[in-house]
Amino acid sequence: MKEPKQLSVSAIENGTVIDHIPASALFKVIQILGLDKISNQITFGTNLESKKLGQKAIIKLEGIFFEDDDINRIALVAPEAKLNIIRAYEVVDKNVVKVPDQITGIAKCFNPKCITNFEPVTTRFKVVSKKDVALKCHYCEKITDQEHLVIL
Ligand code: CTP
Ligand code: ZN
Repeated sequence: MKEPKQLSVSAIENGTVIDHIPASALFKVIQILGLDKISNQITFGTNLESKKLGQKAIIKLEGIFFEDDDINRIALVAPEAKLNIIRAYEVVDKNVVKVPDQITGIAKCFNPKCITNFEPVTTRFKVVSKKDVALKCHYCEKITDQEHLVIL
């Protein structure tokens, strides 16, 4: 057993720590936030022990502070993610992600006849339920519920 205060991933000086990501969603989060395209220092940990999630992942981003809209894009894959804002090595703020009112891209429309499934059109949804997520397609108006949700 490791000591409780020992960190699996080193502390950062200034930036954002995204904690409580389900381990299975780590690569989706990286993709959604476009982390593969930035040159800041980024450290990851995955398959870490978590009482709440079983296995969790964590992402530490040096020098990056997100806008709410950007970060809420991860809510569909990491609904329990917590954002810790770090300044001079201290946690100065903690935020939870919130499912946004609109979703562009990220999710697939469940209707096989929807234009987004056979033309190169970015999906667009209105979020009609946030608890059990339900997404209403901007193009075909069909509802994609949590059970049928596929992340692109
Ligand atoms: N952290 C970091 N660098 C710092 C300070 C904190 O990487 N300079 C990380 C910690 O490793 C932790 C997260 O930011 O993963 C939140 O820190 P803290 O609030 O101190 O930890 P906990 O109380 O364990 O957080 P929670 O209750 O959200 O699980
Ligand atoms: Zn559709």
